[in-house]
Amino acid sequence: MSRNNKKADESKDFEFLDQTLRPVKWGEYIGQENIKKNLQILLNAAKERKHPPEHLLFYGPPGLGKTTLAHLIAKETSSQMRSTSGPAIEKVGDLASILTNLSPGDILFIDEIHRLNKAIEEVLYPAMESRFLDIIIGKGPSARTIQLELPAFTLIGATTRVAMLSSPLRSRFSGGIFRLEFYNPEEIKSIIKRSANILGVKISNEAMDSVAKRSRFTPRTANYLLKRARDYAQIQKKDIDQDVIDETFSLLGIDNMGLNNSDRSLLETIAKKFAGGPVGLNTLAASLSEEEATIEEFNEPYLLQIGFLERTPRGRSLTPLAYKHLDLKPPKEKQEKLL
Ligand code: ADE
Repeated sequence: MSRNNKKADESKDFEFLDQTLRPVKWGEYIGQENIKKNLQILLNAAKERKHPPEHLLFYGPPGLGKTTLAHLIAKETSSQMRSTSGPAIEKVGDLASILTNLSPGDILFIDEIHRLNKAIEEVLYPAMESRFLDIIIGKGPSARTIQLELPAFTLIGATTRVAMLSSPLRSRFSGGIFRLEFYNPEEIKSIIKRSANILGVKISNEAMDSVAKRSRFTPRTANYLLKRARDYAQIQKKDIDQDVIDETFSLLGIDNMGLNNSDRSLLETIAKKFAGGPVGLNTLAASLSEEEATIEEFNEPYLLQIGFLERTPRGRSLTPLAYKHLDLKPPKEKQEKLL
């Protein structure tokens, strides 16, 4: 199995784990306050006009709640949601079949929308803008175009890589393009508290703080860590206390900043093989035998957020904070920059 597939499988595993913990009402969704406010106005206004909401795009690092928001919107508008993903739509015919099977008011959720191919995007533009589906039948001189009218629907796209979306596609999200932010520690702690309640496990306040600290400010990771601690506590016939947490994280190879083995090897590679950087993404990926996309989507957002990594036009560079965390000495010129 390639590393990338492995990552994809882990992320599916996360998604499965998420199911029971996913908020099902607006009131249960913690954080992303600005997005929630904007969406509530947009949804209420659309409801008053008796029209489906306009198309929406959510972007941001994995695990911050893009899919959950889409489910909540469907619930709020009492609509049926059809879910698919960019890579699942291989041919124009696949998209045509999805679109023509929609009922009025449906929500179409397309995850990883940046992975739609160009030919499919071009069919999607008119469908989003004017609810027309242009289908070409036949080939060469005898080819004909037929135009089908589609029911009013709302497209919700989600992506971890908004820069990969073409600008014509981006401009069709007339309801808005929303960036999900990392959660703050209090929000993460509230999510852990809620999840522990749902799972029926007892967890000390100190243990909750420890999980929050290592959660990468991401609910999916917080829930994953909580479940692993729950497993360990169950085997030990204990509640979740600080010892359970320490043991669980040491087994998972997660350090006190929430970095895993792949984050650490990325940082150590930049430090040891590239003198702290800057190093280009492709060189770094080759050196780690890792996919560029995996580094960009899974490792970098958090490392940038905590100030361990800097992205410059010449490539990625380690910061003094990262050296400190790795217990390594920065090279001379980096030390000088500090003075
Ligand atoms: N579980 C996952 N994401 C959540 C969120 N934003 N609020 C509450 N529980 C969650």
